[in-house]
Amino acid sequence: MSPQPAPDRTILRIEPEDTYALRHRTLRPEQPREACHFPGDASEGAFHLGSFDGGILVAVASFNPEAAPACLDGLVESLETGSLNQGGVWRLRGMATAPESRGQGHGSALLRAGFAELEQRGGRLLWCNARLSAADFYLGLGLARAGEDFEIPGIGGHVVMWCALASF
Ligand SMILES: CC(C)(COP(=O)(O)OP(=O)(O)OC[C@H]1O[C@@H](n2cnc3c(N)ncnc32)[C@H](O)[C@@H]1OP(=O)(O)O)[C@@H](O)C(=O)NCCC(=O)NCCS
Repeated sequence: MSPQPAPDRTILRIEPEDTYALRHRTLRPEQPREACHFPGDASEGAFHLGSFDGGILVAVASFNPEAAPACLDGLVESLETGSLNQGGVWRLRGMATAPESRGQGHGSALLRAGFAELEQRGGRLLWCNARLSAADFYLGLGLARAGEDFEIPGIGGHVVMWCALASF
């Protein structure tokens, strides 16, 4: 059997507008495209990463400073995350890989690149509202579940997931 060719993957910083088409197609196809513009996109310090295959954007992830939900209260204190202005607590949003490009490592490469950037910035905790259908993906990357599962109407079951960043 001949070996599989190495994936042609490049991770780059992108603009919020670059994420909208993939977010819409992958995360909220039933909703208007504007539903894929997230408030945190414009937060000071927010950044967006894209994974390109042969020059085509196939996966996106966004990171913005945002206070953690109540179920992480104890952790936020014990990790001494500091104020948001110090870049302690970050939220992951809009994690999406185009259906035809899944399972090729784009999503995990994006998250790892995000971890590296956050660690450079002194980030201490990353959290997200994970779809239950993606929880095992996040578990595989070292995030843990917190609190009770909950429903986001029109989208489905979710759970808060988090990890301490290595700079902690
Ligand atoms: C979840 C998602 C972003 C993963 O992206 P991806 O590019 O396919 O991820 P990777 O190829 O890097 O996968 C890394 C590992 O996670 C596994 N994995 C990927 N998606 C998974 C899922 N939904 N459930 C369980 N495991 C998953 C892969 O099989 C792979 O396992 P391996 O390391 O043993 O080979 C992608 O499936 C997606 O866009 N799903 C729809 C949108 C979504 O749910 N986004 C998350 C919103 S919270």
